[in-house]
Amino acid sequence: MDLDWKNLGFDIIKTDYNVRCVFQDGKWGELEVSSDQYLPIHIGATCLHYGQESFEGLKAFTGADGRIRIFRHEENARRMIRSAKGILLAEVPVELFMEAVEKVVLLNKKYIPPYGLGASLYIRPLLIGTGPEVGVRPAKEFTFLVFAMPVGPYFKEGFKPLDIMICRDHDRAAPLGTGHLKVGGNYAASMASISEAHQKGFATAMYLDAKEKKYIDECGPANFFGIKDNTYITPKSDSILPSITNSSLQMLAETFGMKVETRPVPVEELAEFEETGACGTAAVITPFRKVVDIDKDITYMYGDGVNPGPVILKLYETLTGIQNGDIEDTFGWTKILD
Ligand code: PLP
Ligand code: COI
Repeated sequence: MDLDWKNLGFDIIKTDYNVRCVFQDGKWGELEVSSDQYLPIHIGATCLHYGQESFEGLKAFTGADGRIRIFRHEENARRMIRSAKGILLAEVPVELFMEAVEKVVLLNKKYIPPYGLGASLYIRPLLIGTGPEVGVRPAKEFTFLVFAMPVGPYFKEGFKPLDIMICRDHDRAAPLGTGHLKVGGNYAASMASISEAHQKGFATAMYLDAKEKKYIDECGPANFFGIKDNTYITPKSDSILPSITNSSLQMLAETFGMKVETRPVPVEELAEFEETGACGTAAVITPFRKVVDIDKDITYMYGDGVNPGPVILKLYETLTGIQNGDIEDTFGWTKILD
């Protein structure tokens, strides 16, 4: 495949195939392979009007041994079921989800970046209400589809410390809203603030809890974590997405002999952390150089400003080592496709 693997960003790249499946009359149909990038859709589809949609994001990697590994796709399947329950989409059974993901990876094998270039195949499952309704009620027909594309780092700097802006004039999600689900509305709600952060020269926006503005919530398209006193600390909140990367890092931190705390994290605690970062499938682990609270005129600084701190480095190397098969996967996180 003639692609500039080393310089991939996080952008749509056309690959050869996607797979699709329709839920009608109360049941899922056959999984079909398509090479069309478009989807004919009823103009009254609930996903278009009322945001009745959920998506997922996961990755496949080529190892040094040339084998393809998918990272924790069963967890994404389970999370999509939780999203479906939350906004009344038809649930995609775990087996159907995993089969569709594996099929898309194998069908687009030539687009999986080679080992060692920091790139991967990003897999995007999507579940949408395709049945028409004009009243606010769930569709009766749904479409599940999975497509994939090769990607490099989400933040163009890659594994380099970034600057983050605390957002005090927007909320991404309400305490009893849909922040814990992977549904499109949360991302629409975050676009203006993320775009404002970019305009001001920051990589993304960090949200505080919507009720009291006291605690750290979500960090753009990723979870926040901080390191201090040999402890991995990450927010507990009903309005953040339970990140599969974050749960993996918590398990790795424990194997390093660190303590793990999931609890409300007051924004002032940013002054006490030795290292901070964001984690997610797309973001992988992104260390922070500074977090700026513009309204309060406070800047929290980390490390030497150039290199990731030692704990974040070790977490990053271990996670990516497991993902590409350099480190033995004692957790059973990866599925090898031959
Ligand atoms: N938080 C948000 C808002 C996200 O979009 C994502 C990405 O999926 C994450 C966190 C990280 O979740 P995961 O590690 O499962 O990709
Ligand atoms: C992911 O990490 O897979 C995400 O979903 C983030 C995405 C919104 C870019």
